[in-house]
Amino acid sequence: MTTEQSRKRLVIGNWKMHGSLAANESLLAALRQGHVHPDSCDLAVCVPFPYLAQVHRMLSGSALSWGAQDLSAQAQGAFTGEVSASMLNDFSCRFVLVGHSERRSFHGETDSVVAAKAQAALAAGLVPVVCVGETLQQQEAGETSAVIERQLAPVLALGPQAVAGMVIAYEPVWAIGTGKSATPEQAQHVHALIRAKLQQAGVPQVRVLYGGSVKAANAASLFAMPDIDGALVGGAALVAEEFLNIAAA
Ligand code: 13P
Repeated sequence: MTTEQSRKRLVIGNWKMHGSLAANESLLAALRQGHVHPDSCDLAVCVPFPYLAQVHRMLSGSALSWGAQDLSAQAQGAFTGEVSASMLNDFSCRFVLVGHSERRSFHGETDSVVAAKAQAALAAGLVPVVCVGETLQQQEAGETSAVIERQLAPVLALGPQAVAGMVIAYEPVWAIGTGKSATPEQAQHVHALIRAKLQQAGVPQVRVLYGGSVKAANAASLFAMPDIDGALVGGAALVAEEFLNIAAA
């Protein structure tokens, strides 16, 4: 079961489909050198599969952790193009994103597929970062709470022991890559709802990250909110100084 310690700040960079061996080399070297607050903030990068060997090599022995952006719900077999949890373990991944809105919208991942992926990650000792969030249309229709509850339900149904091993990320789809972050109050409102659900499930100390146009300039005000435990960062994670400044916030 988690402890108070588990709500230590956590900032994860989601590189999405960006990077090259050459560009990653300088970014990772700068992160390794610049992560000077490992006691107050856990810092991690989730990279495209082909770069896992590179992050493994370059970040081993550092205070940073790393992971992937997706995994298969299956352990092994005839699943062309898929990557299993045990393969991620071969590269000492700590985290794996599951149910990112881009996976849900472009790859048709349902709430139950997301829960199955979270379960596969946990079974292999990985920490699934379960992403939830409403679209602009859903927000405008006043459906935010219902959408978040629906997305969380099959994940929470895995039971308190499973959920204690996860991180939840609230990423309103309308804030992703738009430069238009949720205000700290808007984000806190949904985080409080997620926290209440976690409390009901018996795991109030699970970390809940906010994602969606987080940058150094708005990180501190988001992190000042009582139920925001860190950030899942897209674009700003590709610039070492910006990403490190988010962690410093
Ligand atoms: P941006 O930070 O680029 O808005 O992306 C957020 C995101 O989707 C992280 O997973």
